[in-house]
Amino acid sequence: MNDLSAHRERFLAYVGRFRDVPDAAPLRLKVDHTFKVLEHAGVIVDSLRGRADEKVCRAALLGALYHDCGRFPQFQRYRTFMDAKSVNHAILSFRTMRDEGFLHEEEREVRGLAQCAVLLHNRHILPALLSPRARFVTDIVRDSDKLDIFRIMVGYLHSALPERDAVLLHVQDNPEGWSQVVVDDVLAGRVARYSDLRFVNDFRLLLGTWMLELRFAATRRALAESGLMEAVLAGLPDDPRLRPAREKLFALLDACGRSGEEDC
Ligand SMILES: [Fe+2]
Repeated sequence: MNDLSAHRERFLAYVGRFRDVPDAAPLRLKVDHTFKVLEHAGVIVDSLRGRADEKVCRAALLGALYHDCGRFPQFQRYRTFMDAKSVNHAILSFRTMRDEGFLHEEEREVRGLAQCAVLLHNRHILPALLSPRARFVTDIVRDSDKLDIFRIMVGYLHSALPERDAVLLHVQDNPEGWSQVVVDDVLAGRVARYSDLRFVNDFRLLLGTWMLELRFAATRRALAESGLMEAVLAGLPDDPRLRPAREKLFALLDACGRSGEEDC
């Protein structure tokens, strides 16, 4: 049931159509990102060991594979990954999946669950009325996406690669700069918002707050073992006003490392 080889080929054929987009390096990153997210969704699905049925697992894997398919037309049309300056890429991914018929031969429930996960994968807060199955599939995709975004960001927070500006959403590269509103989110135990980011250090804090909503123990353990979060937080300036936020995030990371088998 979880053989996705036809879908992998379909996805690669689709992204091949964007080969000739000028300055397409950021799009190549999105292809790598997609397959890493799919890989991690596979790790979560394996960790569930009978606690989720096949339809849910298949929908999660398909959601992971297609979650960012809208990034390609977004970049082609607007030359940016900033949703605020272009279009909500999750909605565009949903429309692309539907219009391209990527899931047309899937069972109705699988298709609906996967589409829901794609549509909601970047939502700051999920709708309260989501069914438990839809919520479960969506959370697998969101956890998997976040884990790979940690990897990508660590690479870009420390480098001057040409795609850096696009990946970091054009925030200011001031090593001492940070925003109180994002620190307040950390201290209140809230997930920070993209729209509040002004500095690279705000991005570090935002990534830290994502630990608050990782649902699956497999993701939390993978994050703690990867060393990625230490690398994200290591770049924060040595400012006493940041110390409580930093300590709070390290405590969260410590808790991630001690995650047993229990999912949230
Ligand atoms: Fe996305």
